[in-house]
Amino acid sequence: MIWLIGNKGMLGTELSLALDQRGLAHTGTDREVDITDPAALHRFVEQQAKSTPLSWIINCAAYTAVDKAEDDRDTCRRLNVDGPGNIACAAGKIGARVLHISTDYVFNGKGTRPYREDDPTDPIGMYGLSKRDGEAAVFAHSNAAYIIRSAWMYGRYGNNFVSTMLRLMAGRDTVRVVNNQRGSPTWANDLANIAADLILRSDRGDLPYGIYHYTNGGDITWFEFAKEIYVQGRALGLLLRDCAVIPCTSAEYPAKVARPAYSVLDKSKIQRALGMPLSPWDTSLRKYLETCVR
Ligand SMILES: NC(=O)c1ccc[n+]([C@@H]2O[C@H](COP(=O)([O-])OP(=O)(O)OC[C@H]3O[C@@H](n4cnc5c(N)ncnc54)[C@H](OP(=O)(O)O)[C@@H]3O)[C@@H](O)[C@H]2O)c1
Repeated sequence: MIWLIGNKGMLGTELSLALDQRGLAHTGTDREVDITDPAALHRFVEQQAKSTPLSWIINCAAYTAVDKAEDDRDTCRRLNVDGPGNIACAAGKIGARVLHISTDYVFNGKGTRPYREDDPTDPIGMYGLSKRDGEAAVFAHSNAAYIIRSAWMYGRYGNNFVSTMLRLMAGRDTVRVVNNQRGSPTWANDLANIAADLILRSDRGDLPYGIYHYTNGGDITWFEFAKEIYVQGRALGLLLRDCAVIPCTSAEYPAKVARPAYSVLDKSKIQRALGMPLSPWDTSLRKYLETCVR
């Protein structure tokens, strides 16, 4: 039995569906079992042991508000460092495997080629720092853990860049979008399917524990992403009026905390491990937008 934590979030909801599709038995919780409370996690594990013991714990719960994290450091650390540590500890006690989700924000963004799993981390803000320390907390408490680092995620079940762009483009004549940050978008549905496949592969006994990078294929700037959202949104009838997409720099669009300038992840390790091609970012965007038409 799989315990999916954070099952009401953007990724957690998709993962719940991906597990269903593969017939993988799972039970899900969100805020009602607080990951910062080790006793609450323990109670859930004990309760579950009376019916079907847990063989996996997947953690999709996190503090994801990148700017807010700078003023809310304690809450951010409790959720992103203590939480994963508590989960890994609970899993270790019952011999369950762990799948935890992390981020490109563990890197400083000064790289010039896609980041590999073993490249040195050097986060530039509180969110990235907490996620980096959360990775360490997982491995400190579990010797049977996988971490998937992903980036630029969007999907049906949460606020994200694509939903924001569609909303702004529907009501404005122009939108200005940063053109000096490069990365790779990830459709939450694709990441959920990869995570579910990773579990199946691990259950077959031939997948080494450790960190894996996954995003959609290709790399672009936020401006290029916005332009494609506009083009595809117009073609699918999701956007009914003209809107000019204008490039700007991050200096012209100040945020509380700097974003990595370059956060492309090298996905060759997970591709080799799972033996599948990466879905190109624009193909996945189209598939996602088609689900918005229906
Ligand atoms: N979004 C991205 O672009 C992105 C990129 C790379 C990696 N990631 C990582 O991917 C993972 C999933 O992200 P997401 O965007 O799907 O997150 P999300 O939509 O914010 O989902 C997180 C879920 O955790 C719940 N939660 C909050 N505090 C909790 C607690 N104390 N105990 C239990 N559950 C709690 C949240 O509830 P509330 O909604 O009520 O707070 C929410 O349902 C995270 O690890 C994130 O760091 C995200």
